[in-house]
Amino acid sequence: MCGIVGYVGGQSALDVVLAGLKRLEYRGYDSAGVAVLADGALVASKKAGKLINLEKELVERPLPAGGTGLGHTRWATHGGPTDANAHPHLDGAGRVAVVHNGIIENFAALRAELVARGRTFASETDSEVVAHLLAESFAGCGDLAEAMRRVCRRLEGAFTLVAVHADVPDVVVGARRNSPLVVGVGEGEFFLASDVSAFIAHTRSAIELGQDQVVELRRDGVTVTDFGGAPADVRAYHVDWDASAAEKGGYDHFMLKEIAEQPKAIADTLRGRIGAGGVLTLDEVRIPPDVLREIDKVVVVACGTAFHAGMIAKYAFEQWTRLPCETELASEFRYRNPIVDARTLVIAISQSGETMDTLMALRHARERGAKVLAVCNTNGSTIPRESDAVLYTHAGPEVAVASTKAFLTQVVACCLVALYVGQVRGVAAGRGAEVREAVRELAGMPGAVEDVLRTMEPVRELARSLARKDTVLFLGRHVGYPVALEGALKLKELAYMHAEGFAAGELKHGPIALVEEGTPVVVVVPSGGGQSVVHDKVVSNIQEVRARGAWTVVIAEEGDEVVVPYADHLIRVPRTSTLLQPLVATVPLQVFACELATARGNEVDQPRNLAKSVTVE
Ligand code: G6P
Repeated sequence: MCGIVGYVGGQSALDVVLAGLKRLEYRGYDSAGVAVLADGALVASKKAGKLINLEKELVERPLPAGGTGLGHTRWATHGGPTDANAHPHLDGAGRVAVVHNGIIENFAALRAELVARGRTFASETDSEVVAHLLAESFAGCGDLAEAMRRVCRRLEGAFTLVAVHADVPDVVVGARRNSPLVVGVGEGEFFLASDVSAFIAHTRSAIELGQDQVVELRRDGVTVTDFGGAPADVRAYHVDWDASAAEKGGYDHFMLKEIAEQPKAIADTLRGRIGAGGVLTLDEVRIPPDVLREIDKVVVVACGTAFHAGMIAKYAFEQWTRLPCETELASEFRYRNPIVDARTLVIAISQSGETMDTLMALRHARERGAKVLAVCNTNGSTIPRESDAVLYTHAGPEVAVASTKAFLTQVVACCLVALYVGQVRGVAAGRGAEVREAVRELAGMPGAVEDVLRTMEPVRELARSLARKDTVLFLGRHVGYPVALEGALKLKELAYMHAEGFAAGELKHGPIALVEEGTPVVVVVPSGGGQSVVHDKVVSNIQEVRARGAWTVVIAEEGDEVVVPYADHLIRVPRTSTLLQPLVATVPLQVFACELATARGNEVDQPRNLAKSVTVE
């Protein structure tokens, strides 16, 4: 949700900033812009549409070179995706340039105040007020960091800001409230960015900025204060992956690369967490065992794909902890009066660690005394920082907007947490064999996903053959239901098709009316050796839709022969226990959506209207 880069140092700021924006384009691609300080003047260029439009513009109208600059790639909120609304925004005199990620909630009042003082606005954005306010504050104090602090004290909402001023050519300042901002530390050069991928090609040393902090970058160092000007404590860290992890590595799309990385990602999530005899050691779960023993309820909050992982987590928690567990959309949880207290364990699941709805939900829960455990992929991001504990998924950077490896590793991490809480609470004691088996099976999941990936060519062919369809329905029961929802979400996101996921048993209560002659219906058949009642119910549901003309795509485990007569197209997945089936059954649906998007000529990594990290409510 908007990507920001700032740079000061000996290289061409424009080159560094553009390369950084390329890495951050997953955060939004409605427009892009840059500003550079060169020979005491501020020069800027911005363009609606993807970064490529800006790059073309810069070829036609190049900017002079300078060592200080900033840039922005936008996901539009206030004001449409036009050249004028693109960042950076300048003050009237063209001395200040500012880029912003977030929403300034009191911008209307600030804008009215500035207009009353005779300032004229060039855009419809909330962000432009900051350029004018900074120009005024700087005129008063002559110090850009101090000017930024003064402005921040007046702003309400969520904001990451980066600014430069033509009067202080070797200074870049940044500010952070709610939205992310990281400092990259080089030799005689410093970077600011929404995430480390923007500067990982230059340095792996980073400083995490905290909430309500202002940073000043100069060629000789960095100063961080709070909004009042008091020196702030910051945490420096080493980024444990390198530039190659953020490259496509020979794949046509990041999504394909990330699908292929899933076996490794799962292995990395499990690494070091399963001890001898299947005992789990989750050292990061800093919630003391006696507190975990007192928990009487689990609430999972998340958005989008992470919410589907949370739905699967509910089955795992109920099974392995015997605690009541609810999974809530973070955006809905926040504005209810939920029954949450000191005996509630809240699990906040988020790939980015920055999703505003999830962040607000966890704050809401903590205000009520709940303990919050984050399941997160992004080291040092806001959600884990504000949680009582965190279990990192270690999936590596996920760049494609449609989430894949993050989802599977979230499911794995949630299973680990559920098994761990069960272990601590002694629930597992009476069911040692079952738990040991679950842990053993988890350890085998990288191999199982590898096996699925080896058999995906027929799924790609299937996708191509359905490229002209308008609707695809997805059915599942038990943990197959969130898998069906995830399959439908992937198709909506990537192929822009009408796709719906249903609980298979609910079909007869309305959705079955959507089925026409030839409607493709994808059915996730429960695994577990075909023994379960739920398996037989799903087989009946397949027959119900076929009786109404559906063309069925059946996902079933190896050896399940019962389904064969009812499948117009059969996708085999390895045999697993029922609870772990999502780890293998989701993979063909990811491949299916990716291939369908390609067949329909859509952009796989950057679907229209979306952003990977949604830092507004
Ligand atoms: C956005 C992304 C989704 C993602 C959701 C939650 O909508 O497009 O792919 O599932 O945010 O993101 P998070 O980073 O919190 O997992």
